[in-house]
Amino acid sequence: MSSSQDLSKYFFLPSKLLGKKSKSFMFDIYIYHEEDKNISLDTKAHHRIQQEHLDGYSFLEGKGYKIAIAIAQKSICFLELGIHEKDLVFDDGVDGPDKELALNYVDQKAKFEKEIHEFDFTKAWKSSLRTNNYEQVIAMAKKEIFCFPLNVSMTVSNARMLSQFLEKDNVNNRIISVTYYFAKMLGITGYEELSDLICAAFFKDLGTLFLNYGFENVPVETLDRSLQVDYFKHPKISLFLLKKSGIELSEQCFKIIEQHHETPDGAGFPAGLVGASVVSLSQLLGVVDQFFRFLGGHVTKNKLSHQDILSLWEKGQNPQGMKTYQEEMAKQFSGFLKSSA
Ligand SMILES: [Fe+2]
Repeated sequence: MSSSQDLSKYFFLPSKLLGKKSKSFMFDIYIYHEEDKNISLDTKAHHRIQQEHLDGYSFLEGKGYKIAIAIAQKSICFLELGIHEKDLVFDDGVDGPDKELALNYVDQKAKFEKEIHEFDFTKAWKSSLRTNNYEQVIAMAKKEIFCFPLNVSMTVSNARMLSQFLEKDNVNNRIISVTYYFAKMLGITGYEELSDLICAAFFKDLGTLFLNYGFENVPVETLDRSLQVDYFKHPKISLFLLKKSGIELSEQCFKIIEQHHETPDGAGFPAGLVGASVVSLSQLLGVVDQFFRFLGGHVTKNKLSHQDILSLWEKGQNPQGMKTYQEEMAKQFSGFLKSSA
């Protein structure tokens, strides 16, 4: 029996809070499925529920279903189960360190939110550019991503889980954190889009691990042509490995990974896509990726300064076979850099 599909009239209840004994509840129990956004009435109030039925709820949770209760019956539900708002924490079915994080989620979130509210990214970014130390930006990105909601999608949950690795001030963590803040500065605030970017930034270069040279320590322009051709394949290899692993990421996240070196003028790789076929989130990640890789000496023989990079982007120069950006996203990032100088 279908009910109204207005989700704002319901809240989700972790199945474990219903307990394990046969009983009847004074509230109606609905079942919600994430994929088709459908809510159906499962058990009317005062109807006896057997223990097998309660176990079934737990099983369904692992399959992407959720128990939903009408907001109108929230007080009676909380009273009868003896629970509070802070108990409505889902562990996303994830084991390991993230499960522990989820259990502390409400307390930690409350603590971090004040810090996040007071954090001035522009000020921290200016300091990072000046001192070449990004520890504060990385640490705050870690806290902000940790506070993402628990029950939006698997990509959002994966972004939360990956945030625990934002520790060291290295080139990858710089790219992930600054991509996140740059996206926010461009007005991207949806958890799903931000998480698509975060997960893509984490996994985009996975494929380089399978290339037969020490990519991280060798500037790409110094590789001979055959190794460069290998290097140009890494987005496809990353995609292949991730899909093979079965990790649940959105199609948009996979697309960002596949396209993170494509540029709208067709000079990127691996496919040389043109124009709008390069999605804007791929360009966003690509620009930040290129900035830090130029800065760290991962592309050219010598490390480039901020000014060198700005100058290359403005002229659209193409140093020794490596593509630079002269696109809208690079202009946005250049403007962001200049205003922080
Ligand atoms: Fe890459």
